[in-house]
Amino acid sequence: MTIVVLISSPRKGGFGERIALRVAEGAESAGNDVDVIHLNDLVRIRQCQNCGACKMNGGKCVIDDDAVAVLDAIERADGIVISTSINFNSANGLFKIVLDRMYRFMDANACSTLPKDKKVAIVVTAGADSASAAKEADGLERIMTQHFYCESPGTIAYNTWMMDKDMPVDDDVMERAFGIGTRF
Ligand SMILES: Cc1cc2nc3c(=O)[nH]c(=O)nc-3n(C[C@H](O)[C@H](O)[C@H](O)COP(=O)(O)O)c2cc1C
Repeated sequence: MTIVVLISSPRKGGFGERIALRVAEGAESAGNDVDVIHLNDLVRIRQCQNCGACKMNGGKCVIDDDAVAVLDAIERADGIVISTSINFNSANGLFKIVLDRMYRFMDANACSTLPKDKKVAIVVTAGADSASAAKEADGLERIMTQHFYCESPGTIAYNTWMMDKDMPVDDDVMERAFGIGTRF
């Protein structure tokens, strides 16, 4: 099985990346292959234009940019780990652009065309606002399970208390992250 890890914080080595990579280690320990994508490395990326073309052409997005390879990887993957920071109370803008581009996976009747039963784990980090992190993690889990018929091996909402990015993540959280990974 192939697991795609989508890291959307621009901070390489930050909290969201380390927690997501711990989930990935758990997934690897269970025999999965892991492909890590840093969304911040994408250079050319545009938001969904709501043009409706993908509803008429079998799910192809007419935008030819760096998000296409990410969306193709999401489509092929058996599992996905999503990591986003909280920016102004919700998922960060870069991740939201990629999520909106997943509109390509909904047909004209708003039914998902993604292969069913992918497993999707959500990691949300916040600087201080635990409530927004928990709400966003729940909301993203709902989108992935209800709109895209994915299964959830677990979610993590983590408050960093605005600590320096190199400070360690709490041991119990890293342990939980690994455990979530083993359920892929
Ligand atoms: C533009 C911006 C907006 C932010 N807004 C919030 C916010 O509304 N609430 C909050 O708790 N943290 C906020 N933060 C802090 C980030 O959520 C926090 O630094 C991040 O989750 C840490 O994870 P990382 O190390 O993976 O980047 C914001 C950070 C940025 C850059």
